[in-house]
Amino acid sequence: MSQSDDAPSRREFLGLAACAMAGVGVLAAAAPFVMASGPGQMDDTASVVDVDLGDMLPGTQKIVSWQGKPVIIRHRTAEDMASARGDDAAQGLIDRARDADRVRGSVIDGQAAPQWLVLVGVCAHLGCMPGPARDSQNTGGWVCPCHGSRFDSSGRVRSGPAARNMAVPPYRFVTPTRIRIGEEA
Ligand code: FES
Repeated sequence: MSQSDDAPSRREFLGLAACAMAGVGVLAAAAPFVMASGPGQMDDTASVVDVDLGDMLPGTQKIVSWQGKPVIIRHRTAEDMASARGDDAAQGLIDRARDADRVRGSVIDGQAAPQWLVLVGVCAHLGCMPGPARDSQNTGGWVCPCHGSRFDSSGRVRSGPAARNMAVPPYRFVTPTRIRIGEEA
């Protein structure tokens, strides 16, 4: 009997299984961050989530759950931001976007605060959650554990099978150290 056209191929099935296993590992690693993110995270399907950023040093990130999806909040270093802006015009960007357009919600008291990057932490390939890249190729970025898509310090995909950048959710600053995910700036 031939396999249905709608059935996932063996390769796709193995990819999804790897994605699920990697997701379990990443979420397990992220659990302390989720638990530490405040009362807004008690309902992980909430349409609006407030997140305290007051304890985040440059170079750190926090992961919270919003509408059932992981959201990565990164406090970028000056190096991360310079790298992201410098790559706005890079050749071969898979899903071209300017860094400044990806931090539109980061406005505190009328001033741009591009050190704050907020991303839906879901890879556009098969939905795994990228983790921080820990090698010299991609400082300040992320790598997907499933099939190796790499994302830069603006969350833009730079290589691998993902065809789109990590999405930026609606969010705004409600105080200089607190964001509300789910509301536009
Ligand atoms: Fe395949 Fe991310 S899910 S590269």
